[in-house]
Amino acid sequence: MDNSLNEIKVILKKYNQEHLLNSYDKLDEKNKNILLNQILNIDFELINSLYINTKKKETECNDKIEPMDYLDKNKLYDDYKYYEKIGKEAIQNGKLAAVTMAGGQGTRLGHDGPKGTYDIGLDSHKSLFELLCDSLKEAGKKYGVTIPWFIMTSRENNAETIEFFEKNRYFGYQKDKNLFFFIQGELPMVDMEGKILLDENGLIKEAADGHGGIYEALVKSNMTDKMKELGVEWVFIGGVDNCLVKMVDPVLMGVAIDKSVTVACKSLVKANPYEKVGVFCKRNGKPSVVEYTEIKKEMAEAIDENGELLYGESHILCNLFNIKAIERMGNTPLPYHSAFKKAKYIDKNGELVVPTSPNAYKFEAFIFDAFGEIDDMAVLRVNREEEFAPVKNTDDEGVDCPSTARTLYENFHHLKNNL
Ligand code: UD1
Repeated sequence: MDNSLNEIKVILKKYNQEHLLNSYDKLDEKNKNILLNQILNIDFELINSLYINTKKKETECNDKIEPMDYLDKNKLYDDYKYYEKIGKEAIQNGKLAAVTMAGGQGTRLGHDGPKGTYDIGLDSHKSLFELLCDSLKEAGKKYGVTIPWFIMTSRENNAETIEFFEKNRYFGYQKDKNLFFFIQGELPMVDMEGKILLDENGLIKEAADGHGGIYEALVKSNMTDKMKELGVEWVFIGGVDNCLVKMVDPVLMGVAIDKSVTVACKSLVKANPYEKVGVFCKRNGKPSVVEYTEIKKEMAEAIDENGELLYGESHILCNLFNIKAIERMGNTPLPYHSAFKKAKYIDKNGELVVPTSPNAYKFEAFIFDAFGEIDDMAVLRVNREEEFAPVKNTDDEGVDCPSTARTLYENFHHLKNNL
């Protein structure tokens, strides 16, 4: 240990992060080891460059941005049946797995726990996890298979998520047979001077590295190997917060297979220029998404010759990947976006500081940043009322909230049952 401690001191000095050992002597043996391991695993060059990037002024973007081509599921006519048949066969042959990104907490909803455990207030009081599971089971029954389900948690919510599933008998799924949990990666948070923060326990303060970390997490945690053992070739990745997410869609599968693309994404028409969704586009000829936090007003409001939004294909986190693309992206570094957040930390005197305003940077990669690595992607426009009922905000905000999601969910199921 002494050797590694000395080695670590040299590294910390090099990167001007010597404060990380300030409380080392006060830690018990277990935490001493955890801290040293954490430090050995930090990519200081990366953290340094990410911090430097936070200081860079936004430069004028010279990328060539163009609208993205898409297929409209309502206008496929005869091709609809053709794609459906191809996709159906692949699903029946066990080629599809579903992944749910559930690393987030329900904090924005005032819910203390993993977001997937949130009850949107249906009469059944089913959680988001159970609603998603219901749709998987229904599709499984329809196609005569069990769709393997992979759930990405975070260090923060992994234990609680698994406990919740256990308590609910995995909703009829079987853990480690057709239900798998894996934990997403994390990155240290840094303060405004670029110093890595220590948390209440004197350990490195880390935060989830964004859902762009999913590729690496799937590969590193051997989930892609598990998928291949199961015969999976296509992987649908969706968020936990859309209670109408349609993870098993033969038409989407058929399009992906027929067009030999490595990724097929669903889109829907943006409700208005300011809706909080990313939009598909081509950036320098490659598929891309411009996030709602980054889109310029002129781009959001631009209209085409038919009076429709020029950049109106919304990204709804419903993306189907060929497993080979996931493996490739698992080994391809993605850019990180920084977010300025409030973060509790231990200062150099060992005192806990609880900030009242943002004080630290968190670094996150976005799943769609990998799209630029791909040049063969298809976009399928689907119907909003059938596939998109997000739960992001409290009811006070009036949009993408439990009451809107509930109504959309009930309307969709009412309609389906009356067909
Ligand atoms: C997201 C998309 C946006 C899209 C919108 C549709 C991003 C950056 N933007 O916005 O393009 O139009 O959804 O609803 O994703 N998650 C993790 N780990 C993380 C971060 C997120 O598992 O580290 C999961 C969340 O649990 C959730 C999903 O990813 O299921 C979406 O993340 P969120 O940060 O809520 O994205 P939005 O801002 O809603």
